[in-house]
Amino acid sequence: MKRVIATAALVVLAAAFVFAGGNKDTGAAKQLVVGANIYSFADNFMNGVMKPEFERYAVEKGVKIEIVDSEGQQAKLNDQVDVFITKKVNVLAINLVDPAAASAIIAKAKKANIPLVLFNKEATEAGAMASYDKVWYVGTNSAESGIIQGQMMVADWKANPAWDLNKDGVVQYVLLKGEPGHPDAEARTKESVKAFVDAGIKVQQLALEADPNWSTQHGNDKMAAWLTSSFGKDIELVICNNDGMAFGAINALKAAGKKLPLYGVDALDQALTHIADGEMNGTVLNDGVNQARATLDLAINAAKGLPVTEGTAWKLTTDGAKAVRVPYLPVTPKNYKDFQKK
Ligand code: BGC
Ligand code: CA
Repeated sequence: MKRVIATAALVVLAAAFVFAGGNKDTGAAKQLVVGANIYSFADNFMNGVMKPEFERYAVEKGVKIEIVDSEGQQAKLNDQVDVFITKKVNVLAINLVDPAAASAIIAKAKKANIPLVLFNKEATEAGAMASYDKVWYVGTNSAESGIIQGQMMVADWKANPAWDLNKDGVVQYVLLKGEPGHPDAEARTKESVKAFVDAGIKVQQLALEADPNWSTQHGNDKMAAWLTSSFGKDIELVICNNDGMAFGAINALKAAGKKLPLYGVDALDQALTHIADGEMNGTVLNDGVNQARATLDLAINAAKGLPVTEGTAWKLTTDGAKAVRVPYLPVTPKNYKDFQKK
């Protein structure tokens, strides 16, 4: 009897498998395939937030997503896109390695007549997005993260006169920038510092370093070097354009037995813990979960030939950028608990 039930269960399972598109030979509705990449699996935010949500949400949506690692090499990504096209994926979801190299990818998709959703790194070449009617972008308004981070820092600076170590009324800061030419890195660098200037507070940049990988190792190495440099004792504020680099800077500060006001962007789980422990003064939620969902929602609609935002809550910008921009949010010692996973 038991065996009969087990066999019956197996038959049901097999039927469900065919129904879900697992069997290609039956002519049953084929599962939609999304060919995707992450510019580097070594990136904390991309690998820790966006990739898992892509995988989870694809299951929820009943589509198949194949995600490859471009290992920080645009040439590798170009080849990966060729392979996806040869495999006849239904749609591409692409995280550029080099934001200035979008046109090559767009041209490939256009030639193959496969819709393309770019995400996280916005194309910087003028005209690239307009060159194909089936390319869209999902990301953020880069400047917004810098503005929010800047406003948090200005408010805290005003509330903590002791932070002005040399009492000269000027903020002596160091800045970990991230990838040069990346719209997020460029806008954050500009806007966070501008918030002080707009508030009438003078700033002095003691050091700024870029890193194409936005990495913790880089944050650690640079902060450690700055602390032992001639201006080490003058640093009053550490501005980090992402949490990954902030974690490295925190390590270096701890190793040197120092504590300085320090801010990041992304609101990774570890950043929330650092805020709880008083090792970080704030971060900005970069909502990778919703960016992954929006990317897949647009990709699925595009693959079906539907208007990309149909049946979703996403809105395309009206400025011709063909973009969905997910908002950033400030994360402070007051509200960080709201962002911790329950
Ligand atoms: C994130 C960074 C990440 C970068 C990768 C940014 O939006 O804030 O943490 O390294 O995207 O492109
Ligand atoms: Ca000062």
